[in-house]
Amino acid sequence: MRPAPGAKLVDAVLEASVAGSFTRIGYKARSRLFHWTPLGSLRLDGKVAIVTGATSGLGRTAAELLARQGAEVCIVGRDPDRTERARAEIAAATGSAVEADLADLSLLSETAAFADRFAKQHDRLDVLVLNAGALIHDYTVTAEGNEITVATHVLSQFLLTRALSPLLEAAAPSRVIMVASGGMYTERLDVDTLESDPDSYDGTAAYARCKRAQVALAEEWTRHLLDTGVTVNTMHPGWADTPGLRTALPGFSRIVGPLLRTPEEGADTIAWLAAAPEASAQSGLFFLDRRARAKHRLRRTRRPDEGREAARLWRLCTKRTAPYCTESRAGNDPS
Ligand SMILES: NC(=O)c1ccc[n+]([C@@H]2O[C@H](COP(=O)([O-])OP(=O)(O)OC[C@H]3O[C@@H](n4cnc5c(N)ncnc54)[C@H](OP(=O)(O)O)[C@@H]3O)[C@@H](O)[C@H]2O)c1
Repeated sequence: MRPAPGAKLVDAVLEASVAGSFTRIGYKARSRLFHWTPLGSLRLDGKVAIVTGATSGLGRTAAELLARQGAEVCIVGRDPDRTERARAEIAAATGSAVEADLADLSLLSETAAFADRFAKQHDRLDVLVLNAGALIHDYTVTAEGNEITVATHVLSQFLLTRALSPLLEAAAPSRVIMVASGGMYTERLDVDTLESDPDSYDGTAAYARCKRAQVALAEEWTRHLLDTGVTVNTMHPGWADTPGLRTALPGFSRIVGPLLRTPEEGADTIAWLAAAPEASAQSGLFFLDRRARAKHRLRRTRRPDEGREAARLWRLCTKRTAPYCTESRAGNDPS
């Protein structure tokens, strides 16, 4: 169905306003003005999907949406009880068989071990939703020596995409969806400051830098996977009422309160990117509410050499994940 008259103008005004765009006002207006296709009619029957961080919030909801669309979903959590509970609830709600696996995705060894297990049990992967993440206010280093925000949001996602790329290629056309954040608009891509030093660590800035890095890596993956039929996009959910948001930003969460999106509204674009025919040829883009959006809003985050910086980031990720990509593990050498 054609969009309502003036829909593009209203969308542009909302987008410019930030708050109008990121809250449920943006979701409600866009879904009506553009007559969105219901997710239930965007089918994924016979497709295999992974959703990370599916024990809570957006990931939990996205996994259920994909299962309702007909996908065979494997959820990944880090806590056995929470993961089994989510698996059982999604299976009961959708009537689908749902798989579950465990990995602390701040650890590259556990990320690689999960990819190994999955590759032994499956010969294809149609949809990879890289959603697990958190805004962590205290500087934390993992047992493997990586700052935890970079490890979870950047290195682990890179490793999982790398290790599972043969399965994604086997299922092509297939789709990788990274859940980034509108917070990335505040930071520029800078490999030298991606890993903060402990004394000047600011959790919100560290998180935003990693989300900016995800957007840059989606572009890099797009170049590296050109002609394979695998697309890689980032999206942001707006501001959604989830346990993660309530814990990380309690004051913000209280103030925006009733205007926050529901997890279903926040996760809608994940499920749309996974299944919509019109999304299948798009790659390297940053989506909100079923449309590609600008990657910069502020002049200070733009850099003329962003492409070169993204290539540096790619080399950093390749190097740091290399020890976890042994010959026996599935995965392409992306260098
Ligand atoms: N809510 C928003 O408004 C908003 C806005 C922008 C972006 N996002 C992004 O959306 C994604 C989901 O966030 P959410 O708001 O839904 O938060 P959430 O309710 O806290 O859910 C986060 C999920 O990620 C998992 N996770 C976190 N660290 C992990 C690790 N090291 N290993 C394995 N799993 C891990 C959590 O597992 P546990 O249950 O074990 O903790 C949980 O399942 C995140 O990437 C976040 O940055 C959210």
